[in-house]
Amino acid sequence: MRSSEFLNEHLGHDKDLLHVFTLVLEAIKSVSDNLDLTTGYDETINIHGEQQLAMDVQSDLIFQRTLCSCNCVALVASEEQEEAVHLNGDDYCVVYDPLDGSSLFDVNMSVGSIVGIYPGNSLIGRKPSEMVGSLIAVYGPTTTVLLSFGDGVYELLLKEEGFILKEENIQVASMGKYFAPGNLRATKHVEWYRKLVNHWMKEGYTLRYSGGMCPDVNHIFGKGGGIFTYPGYPEAPNGKLRLLYECGPMAYLMEQAGGKATDGKVRILDKTIESLHQRTPIFIGSSGEVDEAVKFIG
Ligand code: F6P
Repeated sequence: MRSSEFLNEHLGHDKDLLHVFTLVLEAIKSVSDNLDLTTGYDETINIHGEQQLAMDVQSDLIFQRTLCSCNCVALVASEEQEEAVHLNGDDYCVVYDPLDGSSLFDVNMSVGSIVGIYPGNSLIGRKPSEMVGSLIAVYGPTTTVLLSFGDGVYELLLKEEGFILKEENIQVASMGKYFAPGNLRATKHVEWYRKLVNHWMKEGYTLRYSGGMCPDVNHIFGKGGGIFTYPGYPEAPNGKLRLLYECGPMAYLMEQAGGKATDGKVRILDKTIESLHQRTPIFIGSSGEVDEAVKFIG
C-alpha cells in the first residue's frame, strides 16, 4: 500500500495532521535522494560547536522549506538551529534532527532523521507525552521510516514510486538479547554503568552499536527487543542527547511499541521541556532491560 493511501486511511479525518505527515515524508524522501558522500564539510559551526557537514546544512534546509509550505504549522525547531522558526499557522509545532549521527556519514555508515509533532503553537513548558506523532528515518542500504500517530508503530519503505507500507503493529518484547551502550566513556567514572555493561556482557548479550541513534534504536524495533543507553557522567550529568529533537520522539515510538524510555528516574515522555536544546540521559528499549538498568542506577 502506498503511503498516501495509508495516511489517508488513518488520518483522513484530520486533514491538517495528514498534511503535516505528508510533508515530513516528502522532506525525508528529499533528504534521502540528496545524500551525497562527495559533499564534505562546510565552513559553518553549529550551535553545539560542531563543524557542520554540507549535508547537515542541506537536510536542515530541506525540512524547513518543505514544512514552510504548510499553513497549519506554527513553528519548526531544528537541532541545527539555536532558535525556533515561526511560521504562519497555529496548529502544530514540528521539531526535528534533520541528519542525526552525521559524523558517521563521511565514512558511509547509516544516518537518520528524527521528527516529533506537537499540537499547538509553543513548546516550552510542554511534555513529550503531548506529541500527536513522531517518526524516525534510517538512511541505510535502503531508506525506512518508523512512525506513529498514537495507535501503534508502522514501518514504511522507500521505493522508486515513493513510500509504501512495510509493516504494522511493530512490537518490542519485554526482554531482548541486544545492547547498544552509548557513551561507554562514562564507565571510566560511573561505577553503576560499568557494572551494568559488565552484567549484560556476562549474560551473553550481543553488542549492536553503530554510534548513530537512529540505526541503533531502529535495530531494537527491527529485532523486536534490546536496549540503547546514553547516561550522563560527572562533567555532563545530562549526557549529550536532546530531549526535544532525539529522546522525546524516540520515546514516543518506543512506548507505542510496548517498550519503555526513562532518564533513570523520570519517564522521558513526562519530562518538561525547559529549553529547546535541553539534554537528557536515556535508557530506551525493552521494558525488562530498561527496568534492569534503573535498578543498577539505584
Ligand atoms: O546526537 C548525535 C549522535 O550521533 C547520536 O546519533 C548518537 O547516539 C550519539 O551522538 C553518539 O555519541 P558519541 O559521539 O558520544 O558516541
